Amino acid sequence: MPLTSPAEMFRQAYSGGYAIGAFNVNNMEIVQGIISAAQEEKSPLILQVSAGARRYAGQTYIVKLMEAALEESDLPLCLHLDHGQDFDICKQVIDAGFTSVMIDGSHHPFEENIRVTREVVDYAHERGVWVEAELGQLAGIEDDVSVEENVFTNPDEAAEFVERSGCDSLAVAIGTSHGAYKFKGEPKLDLERLERISKTLPGYPLVLHGASSVLPEFVDLANKYGGEIEGAKGVPEDMLLRAARSGVCKINIDTDIRLAVTATLRKEFAENPANFDPRKYLKPAREAVSYVVQHKMRHVLGSSGAA
Ligand code: G3H
Ligand code: 13P
Ligand code: ZN
Repeated sequence: MPLTSPAEMFRQAYSGGYAIGAFNVNNMEIVQGIISAAQEEKSPLILQVSAGARRYAGQTYIVKLMEAALEESDLPLCLHLDHGQDFDICKQVIDAGFTSVMIDGSHHPFEENIRVTREVVDYAHERGVWVEAELGQLAGIEDDVSVEENVFTNPDEAAEFVERSGCDSLAVAIGTSHGAYKFKGEPKLDLERLERISKTLPGYPLVLHGASSVLPEFVDLANKYGGEIEGAKGVPEDMLLRAARSGVCKINIDTDIRLAVTATLRKEFAENPANFDPRKYLKPAREAVSYVVQHKMRHVLGSSGAA
């Protein structure tokens, strides 16, 4: 099966009131863990690659891993660039065969964000590639850029942004943030704002970044074996389910995968100090990735059985 565009995936997700998981990948075990979970759940999925992942693994390896994933599975699978900073990086991955890119102009003023997004849209659409853009800003760290404060998406600007930039999906800021420390006190998302945005853009796919739920079982496991991940808090899963019913078709998940891998490795090292065969600790780490992804598809995204 060739790589898929998100168009059909999102159309079905929108009408079905569920979301497609977009999972960040950095190496072979993560790709394999995600694919085997999706296969088990019969769920469509997006694998996404950040600039940091591309630097870490190398674009050739990433693309070849995707080819392997496609050969091994019969699932609708889309390959997406996460947080493309400029036209050049978007062009490079489009030329390498990605089916979807994000141009993240969210740190620019409104008019400049429209301009950079439009430039990518013109190049991408000529080649049948999907473009996600972002309006509003999430707090947290992404690709070494640190943002202190959330700047929520203005619902009145969202429709104008989509119309003038031509983007195919829009990431919105409603209170989520990247990383493991999303809320200091009570978790809160501005779901009313999400509904207002969704009303101004009927049928249009919205995207939620920073949407890991930070599973306590993995935070506790990491801390039990020497980790120092104190006070980590993610987005409550019932809020994500509600978002999926309010126009959110793509939910980004990276931190949950990182935590599952790290907690499992800590446990393996602590319990088997004499082992020095990487396969013996990477296998359970890969299984932990599958466990998290299956949990998400079944209980948070609602995408199980949709492929
Ligand atoms: O949005 C950020 C993603 O979690 C990717 O993180 O840039 O460290 O690969 P990264
Ligand atoms: P998390 O840090 O919540 O997993 O968000 C990932 C993300 O938005 C990637 O773009
Ligand atoms: Zn993100």
